[in-house]
Amino acid sequence: MAKKKGRLEFLKMKEDGEKVAWVTAYDFPTAMFAEAAGMDMILVGDSLGMVVMGYSGTIPVTMDECISHCRAVRRGAPNTFIMGDMPFGSYQVSNELAVENAIRFFKEAEVDAVKLEGGRRVEERITAIAESGVLVCGHIGLTPQSSGPMGGFKAQGLTPDSATHVIEDALAVQDAGAYAVLLEAVPPELTEFLHKRLTIPVYSIGAGAPCDGQLIICGDMLGQFQAFTPKFVKKYANVAEVVTNAFKEYVDDVKQGRFPTDEHVYHVKKGCEEEYAVLLKKYTRNPPFML
Ligand code: KIV
Repeated sequence: MAKKKGRLEFLKMKEDGEKVAWVTAYDFPTAMFAEAAGMDMILVGDSLGMVVMGYSGTIPVTMDECISHCRAVRRGAPNTFIMGDMPFGSYQVSNELAVENAIRFFKEAEVDAVKLEGGRRVEERITAIAESGVLVCGHIGLTPQSSGPMGGFKAQGLTPDSATHVIEDALAVQDAGAYAVLLEAVPPELTEFLHKRLTIPVYSIGAGAPCDGQLIICGDMLGQFQAFTPKFVKKYANVAEVVTNAFKEYVDDVKQGRFPTDEHVYHVKKGCEEEYAVLLKKYTRNPPFML
């Protein structure tokens, strides 16, 4: 079994140019499969709101839901670096609330780090959480919790003006004390620049290859999440098709009497058959016309 990685191992990987493979997971079995596959990190993203809870976005996701999913993932992947995603409302109000909630992730769900969205506007929160002893990862570029004000799920940093915001945010996140930063949906030219410019690990989701590692949403890569698929997703499986077909086959088997068969049942203990038959006869009610 591989040793669980931590901040120092990720810094070493950065130094050596070894890429980090990172995926989201929200439940025990997916976490188990990710760990078995040799995943370096798991994010319990607030994307769980859309991928497993059926919300139309991430805003309704609560701290309690995140903690509960993080606990399941921790049980499934005890030897993998797990990051808890701070949901909307858990860090915006004050430094105190942000620290309180980061510590909840740390104590109640045993995560290794937390992530929060935003650059300059959450600088103080990042510093407060980092100073409390919890590792914090920044998340800039496209930030789904503020996709409303951003005008939807839109790539960022495509123009010099927009790139300036991303660069300023990245510098702010690093200076504030984040141990890593995730870039979402920005051009690879900007990713490459930030990878060279920053000293902390730079990870990408939809921000191209020139950085320290990649994150992908499990529901997207496995073909579970049906509502939409961003351009930056590569599909590795079609779980929706596999599961729907299995369910259809089961429905058909039940209706046609092909399931269960003899191999799926428990038989009366050998030697008890006669006594058993007598027992059932004793409890057999007479048909109504005999009453
Ligand atoms: O919640 C999540 O999965 C995320 C990714 C979109 C980066 O924050």
